[in-house]
Amino acid sequence: MTLDQTQLLETQRAFDSVAADYDGPRGNNELIQRMRQSLWDTVQRELPPGSRLLDLGCGTGIDAAEFAQRGYQVVASDWSPQMVARTRVRAEAGQLASRLSAVHVGIHQLDQLQGEFDGMYSNFGPLNCAPEMGAVAAECARLLRPGGKLVFSVIGRICPWEVGHYALKGRFKRALVRAARGATAVGMNRHTIWTYYYLPREFYRAFAPHFALTEYRALSLFMPPPYLVDYYRRRQAWCERLGRLDDRFGALPLLRDMGDHFLIVMQRR
Ligand SMILES: C[S@@+](CC[C@H](N)C(=O)[O-])C[C@H]1O[C@@H](n2cnc3c(N)ncnc32)[C@H](O)[C@@H]1O
Repeated sequence: MTLDQTQLLETQRAFDSVAADYDGPRGNNELIQRMRQSLWDTVQRELPPGSRLLDLGCGTGIDAAEFAQRGYQVVASDWSPQMVARTRVRAEAGQLASRLSAVHVGIHQLDQLQGEFDGMYSNFGPLNCAPEMGAVAAECARLLRPGGKLVFSVIGRICPWEVGHYALKGRFKRALVRAARGATAVGMNRHTIWTYYYLPREFYRAFAPHFALTEYRALSLFMPPPYLVDYYRRRQAWCERLGRLDDRFGALPLLRDMGDHFLIVMQRR
């Protein structure tokens, strides 16, 4: 099943509704910051400062501003007009407008963009909200120079913490929501986000015609997922140890197929 316009607009409204407080615990708590650091490090390792980057689903522009500050040229895109507006304010406030611009373009509308990029990144699951990943991959290939890189953090299918957390509460349907085939409705702030879940190999299949797989790793497999930040705060020393397990073992076969998100790196052929 692919998403229709009504469903895409429901997702847009859901994110519009949280844009104002997204920089607080909802979008940027300690566990999210930890995952952000992994994407920042990976982009910086794969692409030198000065590269032209396209951010897919930029949210309020936290990553885009970080990369602009590090000397990258960033075009930040999002399907939620409220998120795009927040990114523009951030760019102005940080005096980054010469290196950071924001456009209201959904991932399913990349055909509206022109130009050539050295790399693209997407953080915290915007790609999970986009229909027709094969068409998205083809557009990414059109916009990226040969040898250019993709660095994406994508919501995975197998998250043991989530299954345990909701099963213990008796919410078995919620515990297994990531097993759904096709788009599934996930509630947020009394709105609906239409979400596709992926195993890394399912996700890569759509990109394989244009991109070679460089690597992928689990994010927040041992560490609790960001929405369990209260648990993390109560048992911080223990959770930090779990985080170190993620750092050491998250790229190992089998383990890398699990986790709240996975971080995948691909290279344009
Ligand atoms: C969980 S937020 C992540 C935002 C940002 N990347 C970050 O790391 O803070 C998901 C973002 O994806 C955006 N999004 C949802 N569907 C989208 C689509 N079809 N195209 C582009 N962006 C989309 C939302 O508006 C939201 O800003």
